[in-house]
Amino acid sequence: MRRWKLPKLDIWRGPLRPIPRIIQRFMPKGLYPRSLIIIIAPMVLLQCVVTVVFMERHWQMVTQRLSQAVIQDVAAVTDLIEDRRSDAELKQIIQIARDRMNLNVAFLPPAPLPAPAPKPFFNILDGILSDEIKDRIGRPFWIDTVGNSRIVEIRIQLDDGILRVFAPRNSAYASNTQIFLFWMVGTSLVLLIIAVLFLRNQIRPIQALAAAAEGFGRGQPMPPDFRPRGASEVRRASLAFIQMRDRIERQIEQRTQMLNGVSHDLRTVLTRFRLQLALLPEGEDQDELNADIDEMQRMLEGYLAFAKGEAGEDVGELDLEPLLKKFRAEAQIKGKTLVTDIVGDPRITVRPDAFGRMVTNLVANAMRHGDEIRVVANHEGRWLTVTVEDDGPGIAPEQREDVFKPFVRLDPARNIDAGGTGLGLAIARDIARAHGGDILLSESKMGGLRALIRVPG
Ligand SMILES: Nc1ncnc2c1ncn2[C@@H]1O[C@H](COP(=O)(O)OP(=O)(O)OP(=O)(O)O)[C@@H](O)[C@H]1O
Ligand SMILES: [Mg+2]
Repeated sequence: MRRWKLPKLDIWRGPLRPIPRIIQRFMPKGLYPRSLIIIIAPMVLLQCVVTVVFMERHWQMVTQRLSQAVIQDVAAVTDLIEDRRSDAELKQIIQIARDRMNLNVAFLPPAPLPAPAPKPFFNILDGILSDEIKDRIGRPFWIDTVGNSRIVEIRIQLDDGILRVFAPRNSAYASNTQIFLFWMVGTSLVLLIIAVLFLRNQIRPIQALAAAAEGFGRGQPMPPDFRPRGASEVRRASLAFIQMRDRIERQIEQRTQMLNGVSHDLRTVLTRFRLQLALLPEGEDQDELNADIDEMQRMLEGYLAFAKGEAGEDVGELDLEPLLKKFRAEAQIKGKTLVTDIVGDPRITVRPDAFGRMVTNLVANAMRHGDEIRVVANHEGRWLTVTVEDDGPGIAPEQREDVFKPFVRLDPARNIDAGGTGLGLAIARDIARAHGGDILLSESKMGGLRALIRVPG
């Protein structure tokens, strides 16, 4: 029955299409910075909105009210001075202005007003005061809100002189914004520090788990201090990882033990065979039987080596240079051409014996099947790769998986030479996988097989 499906909402269409990719490119990749952004971004946004609204409305309004009050006082003083009847009265008015209105007033002899000071940028006080004076006094004036920062100077031209008023700046100006900003930034900093500390503790167990899993993939031992920690989900994941690792290790151990046992038992039987064969009277079949026993013996040795595995070896440093040099010398003895190249650091961190064995197996195959061999190691990026190419017959695509199985040999159809149990590739892949990598076979430009080893570098 067909089910109804919700129409897929795809808002990232047309010109908006690259946006998610761009965001992804510039977003940090780690969990820690990402969670920090999740905390910081809303906080910053909220503060911006609050600040803008506050500045726009509250601050402007308060400043306006305060300026209004100051200018009303100045207007009152102006009226009184204009209507004065004597100098004594003038003095009294000035006295009252100083005592009661907190205004420092002086009456100066007539003179032209100074040229208007340049309008300060970003200063709403200047504009508001000017408007108020225009509205309430309506005489030519001059103001300076910048010069002395604690005082605002106002000059008003009267008929018979100039009235100069010094008003304290904070009586006209809502100056508590700095405090507001300080508290806002301060508290958010405290919040941020708390968030950073808490987040770090939450994220550390996840990082430890990631590192342990990564190390296990590369075959490195688990860090000694690794144990389930942190939030319950992380604990569960860590516990599951530890159990999984134990199970895998147990399985490997069981396999090794079983193969060891089987091989050992068979070896004993083979030895008995050989003895009995030697005791038998001479016959024409004896040589053939001996050859068969030899073959079986060799296979068993190979099996044993395969079963033993290299899993127990510790991770160490391996220098690729001498290894490749050994291959070149060997090729020379066998009369083959072997070219090598190393890109990047030749020293790699792997299980040295196992890694050497893996590369040796591939090079041995190449030397058996081809005359020209090329070995290139690349240790530049996140992966370490070693490619082994030859100009031999290669392997047909449908057989490239089969040859990795133990004891699978294609050679009987081709030239059968001594040695070769069909374990080389099986062992090599085992080692690559124990390092957290793999081996891929493909066709080489040289005509033969191209084997690519890829392990995390
Ligand atoms: N470079 C190559 N060119 C062509 N065929 C190859 C190449 N490498 C391997 N093969 C084929 O894959 C088969 C399996 O290889 P593998 O290395 O596992 O065994 P082997 O070389 O026969 O024996 P061993 O490596 O144990 O001595 C080989 O028998 C061979 O037929
Ligand atoms: Mg081989």
